[in-house]
Amino acid sequence: MNANRAAARTIAITSGKGGVGKSCITANLACALAREGSRVLVLDADLGLANMDILLNLQPAGTLHDVLHGVHTMAEVLLKGPAGITVLPSGSGLAEYSRLSGDTRDRLPQVLNEIIHDFDHILIDTGAGISEVVLYTASLAQDVLIVATPEPTSFADAYATIKVMAYQQERARFSVAINQVRKGQSGAAVVQKMQKTADHFLQEQFGHRIVLDFAGEIPADPAIEASVRARTPAILRDPAAPAAVALGKLARYITAQKPPARGLREAHAPQSALPA
Ligand SMILES: Nc1ncnc2c1ncn2[C@@H]1O[C@H](COP(=O)(O)OP(=O)(O)OP(=O)(O)O)[C@@H](O)[C@H]1O
Ligand SMILES: [Mg+2]
Repeated sequence: MNANRAAARTIAITSGKGGVGKSCITANLACALAREGSRVLVLDADLGLANMDILLNLQPAGTLHDVLHGVHTMAEVLLKGPAGITVLPSGSGLAEYSRLSGDTRDRLPQVLNEIIHDFDHILIDTGAGISEVVLYTASLAQDVLIVATPEPTSFADAYATIKVMAYQQERARFSVAINQVRKGQSGAAVVQKMQKTADHFLQEQFGHRIVLDFAGEIPADPAIEASVRARTPAILRDPAAPAAVALGKLARYITAQKPPARGLREAHAPQSALPA
C-alpha cells in the first residue's frame, strides 16, 4: 500500500435495468482515464455473473471471491488489462453471491482499502437490479454514475434505482449517462425528464432536491457490438467511432467533476423499504 498518495476516487456504475451497457461503458471509461495517465482499477462487482474478464479478454487466475475467502492474495488475482488498467475479476455462476453474505459485507471494504492508495480511480461495475449485493457494492462508492437508455423501461428502472439509493445511501446527487441513443433522440432530454420526475415525487419526500447531472450520451453504434465480439474496448479498437468519441467525452466529464471525494464511502446497510 502506498499511503503517501491520495486515496482513489470511487465511482459505481449502475442502472437498474440489465443489459443497458454498464460493463461496456465501465471498460471504455477505464481505458480512457488510463490513457490520460490515471491509475485505474475496475472492480467487477457483478458478483454472481461477472464478465469484465470476457469483455477485456483476460484470463483470471483467481477472483475477488478467493480474496474474500483468503484463498488468494489480492496481488495474485489482480490482472493487467488494456491501456494499463488493472482489473479485479469476480466469479460467474455463483448463485450464492446473489445474496449479500455477512462475509462479503465485512471483507469487501477491508480488501479494497488495502489497495485504495494504489489507484487514482476505482470503477465499480455493478450487476443489474437493486439486489442487496448491487446496492451494497454501489454504496461503497463516493459517486454513482447511472446508465440508462432512452427506453421507458430503462428510464423507470434507473429512476427507481436513484430513489432507493437516495433514500438508503443518503445520496443527493447522481450523474446520469444515456446510452444507445438513436437518431432523433436526446440523452439530455431524458435526464431532464428524470430530473422533473424526481423533483415532483422525491423532493418533498426527502426534504431536499435530488440532483441529476447529465453526464453525456453515447449513440447506439455497431462499433460497440463489434468491440464486444473482439473483446477489446471500442475506445482502443475504433477510436473514431461515434460511441468511442462519446465515451472519451464521458471520461472528461468524470475528470472535470470537482471536488472529487476520495476513498470508500461509509457503507449504508441495505434496507427493505422506503418510508411511506
Ligand atoms: N452504445 C451502444 N451501441 C450499441 N450496442 C451497445 C451499446 N452499448 C452496449 N451495447 C450492447 O449491449 C450489450 C450489453 O452491454 P453490457 O454488457 O455493457 O450491459 P450491462 O448493463 O453491463 O449488462 P448486465 O446488466 O447484464 O451487466 C453489449 O454486449 C453490446 O452489444
Ligand atoms: Mg454488466
